[in-house]
Amino acid sequence: MEKISNISLIRERVKDLKRDGKTIGFVPTMGYLHEGHLSLVDEAKKSCDVVIMSIFVNPTQFGPNEDYDSYPRDIERDEALAKSRGTDIVFYPDVKEMYPSETLTWVEVEKITGVLCGAKREGHFRGVTTVVTKLFNIVQPDIAIFGQKDAQQAAVIHKMVEDLNMNVRIKLAPIVREADGLAMSSRNVRLSTADRKNAVILSQSLFAIKEGINEGKELSKLMEKAKQVILGTPGARLDYLEARSYPDLETVHACKDRCLIAIAVYFGNVRLIDNILIENPS
Ligand code: PAF
Repeated sequence: MEKISNISLIRERVKDLKRDGKTIGFVPTMGYLHEGHLSLVDEAKKSCDVVIMSIFVNPTQFGPNEDYDSYPRDIERDEALAKSRGTDIVFYPDVKEMYPSETLTWVEVEKITGVLCGAKREGHFRGVTTVVTKLFNIVQPDIAIFGQKDAQQAAVIHKMVEDLNMNVRIKLAPIVREADGLAMSSRNVRLSTADRKNAVILSQSLFAIKEGINEGKELSKLMEKAKQVILGTPGARLDYLEARSYPDLETVHACKDRCLIAIAVYFGNVRLIDNILIENPS
């Protein structure tokens, strides 16, 4: 596995690969890899000759009071994991490489970034869409893989690619969960032992809502019940629990053909998100 930190070097590498007729699968990450990220590598390998993973904790998607500084980082560990799963190239730029001067150009998707995480984290999606555009311009992938855990991010990236006619196919990979149901996240390591145990409330709430919907129960009642359970969970502070259409992210009052139940909960200063996409409820 190669590790490249320089934009002109990776461009050269990509040019050579494309000249040799190789297809490129791209897995953008912020590192501190877990099984969720590695499943994206598996997905990329299914349809591409070469897998490039970027590891870059992108400062422009963190608000001033968010966890940019404390976001977990361990490049040696990440390299070993990426290599073990068959990643061909890790692109690992530093902040100066990606943002050598003040950024005056931003890529912004409207409307669907104003709800859920976008409503709570001002400027977050503008940072994501800008860095993903930069990464796409650098890596020129045929396919890019994103995780369903960041369902809103996936919808936003899809819309950006469609609206701007970007020459890349976006694929989604399912959420990977711990044995107790907690969605894998780089932030999980920052939970205290007690909070880690209680964090199972996110997935439990989502599964209970799905079950209730499939039993024909009223969505508003299921949501209210879940909110009460979260309120009673030690250490948990609910940021949002919402039902939305997908990928348009409009508010829904009943779950018809396809709906997204999305949740964000703080434990201390660790913000966890999770979601469940319910298709054709019975
Ligand atoms: O999902 C993430 O890890 C990040 O938002 C991404 C897509 C790598 C952009 O920094």
